[in-house]
Amino acid sequence: MDRRGFLKSTLYIVLPGVFVTGLALIGYSGGRRTYKPSERISLPPPRYESNVSVEYALKVRRSVREYEDKPLTLEQVSQLLWAAQGITEKRYGFRTAPSAGATYPLEVYIVVKKNSVIGLSEGIYHYLPREHGLELIKAGDYSRELMEACLGQEWVLQAAVNIVITAIYERTTWRYGERGRIRYVHMEVGHVGQNIYLQCVSLGLGCVVIGAFYDSRVKEILGVDEEPLYVIPVGVKKGGW
Ligand SMILES: Cc1cc2nc3c(=O)[nH]c(=O)nc-3n(C[C@H](O)[C@H](O)[C@H](O)COP(=O)(O)O)c2cc1C
Repeated sequence: MDRRGFLKSTLYIVLPGVFVTGLALIGYSGGRRTYKPSERISLPPPRYESNVSVEYALKVRRSVREYEDKPLTLEQVSQLLWAAQGITEKRYGFRTAPSAGATYPLEVYIVVKKNSVIGLSEGIYHYLPREHGLELIKAGDYSRELMEACLGQEWVLQAAVNIVITAIYERTTWRYGERGRIRYVHMEVGHVGQNIYLQCVSLGLGCVVIGAFYDSRVKEILGVDEEPLYVIPVGVKKGGW
């Protein structure tokens, strides 16, 4: 698709505000989930300032695979999820990461170990961008199963939490066809991954994006019929940045 084609297909969501909201509502938004959320948790609001510049974060960012044996705070989890998919413009629902045609095909989950986040019990939680909250979709510690699904990569088990990003391709392909599947959705998860890397530096945390895993096993662990694209272990970085 050339630039004109992309702009043309995008214009109709940018122009009339009412129409865009309607499109977001009637556009493909579902996934096929087998879980029934059992508990909702409000996250503390994100903060928009820090002493770490974006330039510094870009300079020092590295993939980190060793972590302190320390829990994360709920504020840190809130900040990470906001960096991943937080809503930064309420009227149209625009987010921290760009999205082709604002179709937002990505869903974000966290896999929490026992005593690894202060104020959260072990379980798998789904991030709700609109509410900036979490819904518990499965209670229990799934970090070992997740490590095994990630070909035994130990940092999955060592991390305080694992962020899992999945895609519901249809949200993007109903508008952009196959190009949405082979390009746009995957570009988008890269934006989200980098947001998380940079936010980690600012919080004194470390993470690594993981692409090597058995798709079907990650799906089974989450209990969703969505395509997992990244597993991202996060923990307190040894020695700080
Ligand atoms: C698409 C993608 C998949 C990756 N998969 C893994 C992985 O499965 N396991 C892992 O430890 N690192 C993984 N990485 C991290 C890379 O190994 C890392 O980015 C690379 O070694 C460069 O190091 P840096 O991130 O510290 O600059 C992946 C990175 C990308 C972009």
